[in-house]
Amino acid sequence: MTPLVRPAGLEPATLWSEATCSIQLSYRRIFASTFSGFIILYAMHSYVLYIGFLVFELVVAVGVAAFALSILYSSFMGSPYVPTKKKELVDFLKDAGLKKGQLFIELGCGDGRVVRTAVKEYGVKGVGVDINPFLIMWARFLAKKDKMTNIELRTENVFNTPLKKADVVYLFLMPELIKKLFPKLTKELKKGSVVISHGFKVVGWEKKLYKTIEKKPFSTFYYKV
Ligand SMILES: C[S@@+](CC[C@H](N)C(=O)[O-])C[C@H]1O[C@@H](n2cnc3c(N)ncnc32)[C@H](O)[C@@H]1O
Repeated sequence: MTPLVRPAGLEPATLWSEATCSIQLSYRRIFASTFSGFIILYAMHSYVLYIGFLVFELVVAVGVAAFALSILYSSFMGSPYVPTKKKELVDFLKDAGLKKGQLFIELGCGDGRVVRTAVKEYGVKGVGVDINPFLIMWARFLAKKDKMTNIELRTENVFNTPLKKADVVYLFLMPELIKKLFPKLTKELKKGSVVISHGFKVVGWEKKLYKTIEKKPFSTFYYKV
């Protein structure tokens, strides 16, 4: 029989102190790993924040650049984006003789403020077109915000907009563009329809001009076709 001999160093006291020592070590390890985990998480968090901030800055910069380019594009296509003043549009819409259910078309509508007001205040059916997709996006957002349904806003070149059914056409465009548009206006507009041109006269329609609101910097001209 092999005698039962306790190996050296395995006396109960030694075993106890080793056990507590290893428990302490585990605690330290857990604490250390938790702490480093916390540091890593914190670092990652600020890293994520940093990346997030960079992405945000990039999106804003790209958005601003795209918008600036779109404004240049508007000018290049015939007319820069210059919105009609709100007070002025309220005044000239009052004199337009708009009736509920009429079709009101705004050529080069920008943020759609004129066509939106005409639909809201006078119950007309509204169509607004603009070459600039950003302005149309914004105009649609504003129309949606006001829960408007009787309005259509399209990214479109004014030369492609059907005008046959229009009762009233509003434009605030550069004289050169009006000049190019003139044959389309004379060809497509029905008899009795009204054209309101803000800022510039429609050259060739002197006899059709029936009302002018003189204002600085922009007067408004009313034509009966
Ligand atoms: C002077 S702003 C008038 C904006 C708006 N009608 C208003 O009164 O607030 C002229 C608008 O015509 C648009 N435009 C320029 N050329 C165009 C074209 N060929 N077809 C459609 N829209 C055009 C521009 O993007 C711009 O928004």
